[in-house]
Amino acid sequence: MEKTFLMVKPDGVQRNVIGEIVSRFERKGFQLAGAKLMSIPTELAEQHYGEHKERPFFGELVDFITSGPVFAMVWQGENVISTARQMMGATNPKDAAPGTIRGDFGLTVGKNIIHGSDSPESAVREIGLFFKEEELVEYNKNINE
Ligand code: PPS
Repeated sequence: MEKTFLMVKPDGVQRNVIGEIVSRFERKGFQLAGAKLMSIPTELAEQHYGEHKERPFFGELVDFITSGPVFAMVWQGENVISTARQMMGATNPKDAAPGTIRGDFGLTVGKNIIHGSDSPESAVREIGLFFKEEELVEYNKNINE
């Protein structure tokens, strides 16, 4: 079953939308495989955002994601990577459609509430960076039977 890495960023935690976000993915029919509230060490933040190292906002990105706790999650389900990206909305909340997470709660391109893996390769990489194998739970909810 496809898995993705999703993370409520420090602004989402501050704005008390962890529950709302978890609820949206539950209602959609996806299954939670792992979750934790955590502070991200600078080294992990730099690894996670490594592909953006040369971009002018890299320092800002790392400073922001390490500025307070995040809620890291692994979700699974059919097409969860692309569907979660649709549910998140455009990276810049000003372009994100109403009804999407960023469209409903986001303010700026930096403070955009949620991160989600953008491809199967990133999902595997990001899940591996944030979760140990034993932190992920396999169980059957029989929701689609
Ligand atoms: S995407 O979705 O990967 O195509 O978006 P991208 O534009 O490449 O942005 C990657 C992440 O960088 C954040 N971002 C910024 N942070 C601070 N300042 C500026 N100007 C800025 N532009 C982009 C953006 O929120 C993306 O974060 P993640 O966590 O990957 O969604």
